[in-house]
Amino acid sequence: MLIRNGVLVGAEGQQRLDLRTRAEKIVEIAEGLTPEPGEEVVDASGLLVLPGFIDTHVHFRDPGGTHKEDFLSGTQAALAGGVTTILDMPNTQPAVTGREQLNAKAALAAAKAVVDYGLYLGATPENVEEAAGLANEVAAMKLYMGSSTGSLLVTEFAPLYRHFSTFSHDKPLVVHAEDEQSLQYFGALARPQSSATNTNHNLARPPLSAQIALSRALAIAEKTGRRLHIAHTTTQRELELIQEAKQKGVRVTCEVTPLHLFLTEEDQQQKGNLGKVNPPLRSREDQQALWRLFDSIDTIGTDHAPHTLEEKRQPYAQAPSGIPGVQTMLPLLLNAASQGRITLQAVIERCVTNPARIFGLSTKGALEIGKDADIVLIDPEKEYEITNEQMLSKCGWTPFAGTHIKGMIEQVYVRGALGYVRGTCIARAGSGKSVVYTQSC
Ligand code: NCD
Ligand code: ZN
Ligand code: ZN
Repeated sequence: MLIRNGVLVGAEGQQRLDLRTRAEKIVEIAEGLTPEPGEEVVDASGLLVLPGFIDTHVHFRDPGGTHKEDFLSGTQAALAGGVTTILDMPNTQPAVTGREQLNAKAALAAAKAVVDYGLYLGATPENVEEAAGLANEVAAMKLYMGSSTGSLLVTEFAPLYRHFSTFSHDKPLVVHAEDEQSLQYFGALARPQSSATNTNHNLARPPLSAQIALSRALAIAEKTGRRLHIAHTTTQRELELIQEAKQKGVRVTCEVTPLHLFLTEEDQQQKGNLGKVNPPLRSREDQQALWRLFDSIDTIGTDHAPHTLEEKRQPYAQAPSGIPGVQTMLPLLLNAASQGRITLQAVIERCVTNPARIFGLSTKGALEIGKDADIVLIDPEKEYEITNEQMLSKCGWTPFAGTHIKGMIEQVYVRGALGYVRGTCIARAGSGKSVVYTQSC
């Protein structure tokens, strides 16, 4: 296939170049390529040609929560959002904590996925050895220092330290860094207010909880020399601590979600449980700090965490935390780029280049000869409004309904095959493949 007349966008810049794919790979990039006999030609005049996005943080609920998402609906939502590779979190039912659950989930993904995928292993106080033995087969290990949706949790020092020291030091250990004891404390304090209509989740799980857990994780990572990736960083203080640790040589990287870039605690007050997520939507000051310190963010991951409207309509205390987002990340970031808030290059660095590097996805990560032909065509001038009806997630809602977007996803290719075109997923269930891991850095 030959994609002609488009503007290729990479982490380094933009250039008008043609791109040729063959047998799932990018094989040629140059000016003015001529079609070969019988070759399919895509005219990308006026369009941007982006590498497929890599979302290293999704919860597709398969198995055990397939009334709100499964590998088919979740990866279709990803595809429609220009995300051609996802890494799925282990807090399913059952949680992926060992060989048996890993194999079972791999079979579900292989049968249903329409984008490429990798799987996480979840840490428990009991699975230190088993987890370490599975390192080569998983994207990373996920460790919850504070309780969130699902049952995974490691709070005691001994298993925490043993996971940090035993799990392959060169694979990311991805941490949900909120401190459980302080969550309990502040959660109890906030409870009397929970009968009121407006409960501020940011008071029940305050920035201090994130700071305590992060400091603990950084100290153990420094001591053990292991790699550490902080999921959903939400505050200025966390970004500062991470920068300081990096300067000292700690092997730490961090993620920010579009939720925390685009929404604040005021939105949670207004949207109620639809804005309930862990860590919570933060103050306007913290949100602004994420933009100001954008350079220090390594990856943007969605934390796509669908729950049904019915589940969200329960009282605050019972309503589950988590918000869907895999389909809206690229549109929101495209729109921010169109407003001049960030450059597309900076977006690609955080949504493609760095995720591929950090998670060792060496066949992904750039529009380059030899890489998988994961390609997104964008019309930068088209404008539209996000609606709940556009969402392909089974949960059927987005907190961004009504948001005006400039920049539209026209076509999405996974390994050279057209999977999505203007509102319609045409990819076949099971066309997604498990990613290959090489040494990450
Ligand atoms: C996530 C979920 O629902 O699985 N919820 C959330 O609020 N972020 C779990 C998690 O990532 O903490
Ligand atoms: Zn989390
Ligand atoms: Zn998550």
